[in-house]
Amino acid sequence: MEHTADSERDTDIILEIASLGKSFRDHTIFSDVSLRVRKGEVCSIIGPSGAGKSTFLRCINLLEQPDKGNMWIAGQYIESGMKISNNDLIQLRRNVGMVFQSFNLFPNMSVLENIVFPEQRVLSRSAAESKEVAMELLSKVGLADRAQARPSQLSGGQQQRVAIARALALEPKIMLFDEPTSALDPEVGLDVLRVMQDVARSGMTMLVVTHEMRFAREIGDHLVVMGDGGILEQGDPDEIMTSPQKERTRKFFTAVIDR
Ligand SMILES: Nc1ncnc2c1ncn2[C@@H]1O[C@H](COP(=O)(O)OP(=O)(O)OP(=O)(O)O)[C@@H](O)[C@H]1O
Ligand SMILES: [Mg+2]
Repeated sequence: MEHTADSERDTDIILEIASLGKSFRDHTIFSDVSLRVRKGEVCSIIGPSGAGKSTFLRCINLLEQPDKGNMWIAGQYIESGMKISNNDLIQLRRNVGMVFQSFNLFPNMSVLENIVFPEQRVLSRSAAESKEVAMELLSKVGLADRAQARPSQLSGGQQQRVAIARALALEPKIMLFDEPTSALDPEVGLDVLRVMQDVARSGMTMLVVTHEMRFAREIGDHLVVMGDGGILEQGDPDEIMTSPQKERTRKFFTAVIDR
């Protein structure tokens, strides 16, 4: 059977991953990872350190090459081993926004320029339009008054909110977040989580690697637990958290709660 979103006639599926696998040399990080995400859904990915969560996200936007399986991602088909043209890669990166643990802002640009620069480069927006979009997004993340500041003058949580605004400015179809709050103090982390909640409410499709169990439970629609070289279990967050099916998942939850 072909793993195509079309063949299922489920046009709501924006991301469909089938039997994805990734190894580094002879070390298998994960294999046989399959996942379907609907438009507007928030999918949280949790699991112990080293489970391959970051590697999985990086495979989705091809920062890493998966070596098994295939995926449909916002209408694009990607298969392991397939040669991907530059245009397809640009298209994919436009469709998929990414927010990292370590903000990755341009240090020598102002907050505003950090957002405006990619808008002009990637979307060829005019100076006026890109500024307007950037200022609107900065207001949304509560930082309009810091537009002229340098990233180094902001707290970690503020920098992360700028990074989210920057990603949103490019109007991605899917946003990937890799532990966006784990480098932050809990209090500023909350501001970032609130912004992410707003983004989720706006209808954005999100894949979020996180240690924030409350976010996964309250904001997440779907939960994926990674471990032991693949997906341990996936499904309704509440169900998995109240009655995990696998011993390995139970062990992980106990470790997280004790932390
Ligand atoms: N470029 C690479 N080359 C070789 N091994 C790698 C590479 N990137 C990741 N790995 C290995 O892959 C495994 C999974 O790493 P990954 O960072 O995806 O885990 P993670 O689940 O995100 O962990 P954490 O919760 O600590 O962020 C680790 O053993 C890591 O050392
Ligand atoms: Mg990681």
